[in-house]
Amino acid sequence: MAEHPAYPVGLRLTGRRVVVLGGGQVAQRRLPALIAAGADVHLVSPEATPSVEAMADAGEITWSRRRYTEGDLEGAWYALISTSDLEANNLASAEGERRRVWCVRSDDADRATAWTPATGHSEGVTVAVLTTDAKGRDPRHTAAVRDAVIEGLRDGTLVAPQFRTRAPGVALVGGGPGDPDLITVRGRRLLAGADVVIADRLGPRDLLAELPPHVEVIDAAKIPYGRYMAQEAINNALIEHAKQGRSVVRLKGGDPYVFGRGMEELQALAEAGIPCTVVPGISSSISVPGAAGIPVTHRGVAHEFTVVSGHVAPDDERSLVDWASLAKLTGTLVILMGVDKIGKIAEALIAHGKPADTPVALVQEGTTATQRRVDATLATVGERVRAEDVRPPAVIIVGPVVGVGPRPTE
Ligand SMILES: C[S@@+](CC[C@H](N)C(=O)[O-])C[C@H]1O[C@@H](n2cnc3c(N)ncnc32)[C@H](O)[C@@H]1O
Repeated sequence: MAEHPAYPVGLRLTGRRVVVLGGGQVAQRRLPALIAAGADVHLVSPEATPSVEAMADAGEITWSRRRYTEGDLEGAWYALISTSDLEANNLASAEGERRRVWCVRSDDADRATAWTPATGHSEGVTVAVLTTDAKGRDPRHTAAVRDAVIEGLRDGTLVAPQFRTRAPGVALVGGGPGDPDLITVRGRRLLAGADVVIADRLGPRDLLAELPPHVEVIDAAKIPYGRYMAQEAINNALIEHAKQGRSVVRLKGGDPYVFGRGMEELQALAEAGIPCTVVPGISSSISVPGAAGIPVTHRGVAHEFTVVSGHVAPDDERSLVDWASLAKLTGTLVILMGVDKIGKIAEALIAHGKPADTPVALVQEGTTATQRRVDATLATVGERVRAEDVRPPAVIIVGPVVGVGPRPTE
C-alpha cells in the first residue's frame, strides 16, 4: 500500500468519535494529544495503565473494559489500534477499511491507513514530521528532525519571520539563576523575539550575547539614577519603549516575584495601560542550593523550608523578618541577599535558641562557571565569610539538609 508518500493533513477532531483499542503504553502516549484536540475518545481494552485509567476516572475518555469486537469502530472518524493481540489488530484494521475509518497501527505501520507524525509546538505552530514511506521508517530520525526544528525556533537559531504584526508590550521574564540553560522555553522564545531587553545584573547574562544586533540591550544596573530612583527609572524605560510599539523583555534573575520587584513593575505597566505578561523563572532560592548538592527538603530531615531576605540586620527597624520564630523552626532556612549581614543574623538565631552548631552553607554565583560553596556552622559563619571572602550573589542555607548530600568536590 505504501508505495506513495503519505499525504499530510491536520485532523480537526473536536467532538468527533475516536476509538482507541488497547490501553497500554502506546495509548498512554497518544491519548493526551487526542484529548487536547477535543476528540470524543472511547477506549476498548480489558485493562489499562494507571495513567490511562486516571484519564477514564477523570471523565476525559470513556472506557469499555473488554476486548475488541466487530462493530467497535462504528461511528468513529479515526482509530488507534494498539492491542497486544495481532489477530484482533488485523480484524480491527479490516473493519476500519470497510467503514472508511483512518486507522493507526502501533504494531504494523505497513498495514495502517494513517501514521502519527512526530509533533512539537512552538509559538502557535505545530510542527509534524512524517516518514516518507513505511519501509524506510526511522522513528528516531523523524523525532530528531522535529526536535531540531522546535529547538531552533525556540532558541532563535532557526529564524522564521512572523508576518502578522506582533503585539507590543512587556514580558517580565524570570531568567533563572544564571546558567543560560535554566531559563524557561517560553522565556527564551520571548527573548529571541524582543526589540528591547532590559536586563538585571543577575540571571542568564550569556543569553544577551546571542541576541541579534538590532536588539537594544539596556543594562538595568546602569540606569543613571540614585539607588531609590532606579526602580522608577526602570519602570519608565519599560513604559516608554512599549509605547513606541516595541516588544520589550524585562529579563530578571531567578523568578520575577521572589525578591524581584516584579509586581511593582507589573503595577506600573498596568497604570500606564501597557499589556504585560509574566513568565515564571527558576528561583535561586531552590536551584542554587540544589546545584551545590543541597536539597531544601529531605525526607526525615526537613519538612519545610523558609526563604527570607537578609538585606537588613535583625536589629534594624526596617526588618520585617521574625528571626525569633525562625530560630524555633526545625526545617531549612534559605537566606537571600544575606552575605553582608550573615554574622548578625547568625548571632540573632543563636540568641533565640537555634543550636550554634547548626550547619550553614554559602553558595556563591550558583549554577555559573564560578560557583563555589563554603561550609560553616552558625557559630563560625561570620568569620568564615570574611576569611573566605564570600561575596554576593550568594544563597545561604541553614539547617541539617546542608549535610545530607555527598560532600561537594571542590
Ligand atoms: C534581589 S534577589 C533576586 C532573587 C531572584 N528573583 C530569584 O528568584 O532567585 C538577589 C539575590 O538572589 C540570590 N541569587 C540570585 N542568583 C544567584 C546565584 N546565581 N547564586 C547565588 N545567589 C544568587 C542572592 O542571594 C542575591 O543576593
